[in-house]
Amino acid sequence: MPTKAWLLAALALFPFGPAPSTPGAGPGWGSHMMEVGYRFALAGRAAESQNFPLADYEVDELGESFEQVRVVPPPEDIPKGVKLDGLLDAYLRQTLPPLRKAAQKADARAFRAAYASAVGQCNGCHKAAGKPFLKVPAVPQGATFLDLKP
Ligand code: HEC
Repeated sequence: MPTKAWLLAALALFPFGPAPSTPGAGPGWGSHMMEVGYRFALAGRAAESQNFPLADYEVDELGESFEQVRVVPPPEDIPKGVKLDGLLDAYLRQTLPPLRKAAQKADARAFRAAYASAVGQCNGCHKAAGKPFLKVPAVPQGATFLDLKP
């Protein structure tokens, strides 16, 4: 087979570029958000236990979870005109850095303040997305598989 024809056949079989975003093709916003919820709560609980290396680690991972959310198409049922991308970028640029800084300085007070403001941002986006019933608690809760003790 001439090279060009072979190439075309290969391209037809294995089209490059991002996979089409068919629903159910991979984890969607909701699945990534479960990870976000877990890491955020764990970061908060670690800081409460004075385990700042763990808090710092989880905030860093939280940023990565948000990066994963970014490449997934937004849920179809969000109100028209709401741009989740912009809210997400603001979260990454403005909300996460103070949390990391406080964790790295082992500053419990600063961490608590940054956490409270972060909770407000989480819930602000849920409201904007038409899901005000998704309320992130101000006091971190939930089970963790890690020892919280420093
Ligand atoms: C940029 C917008 C945005 C931000 C910021 C955001 N979320 Fe979400 N979150 C969503 C949307 C949209 C959904 C619903 C996804 C769906 O319907 O598939 C959601 C769903 C969730 C869920 C429910 C997952 C489930 O299905 O059980 C949790 C938990 C969650 N978010 C936690 C958080 C936490 C914690 C933060 C802050 C650290 C946060 N979210 C920040 C948009 C956001």
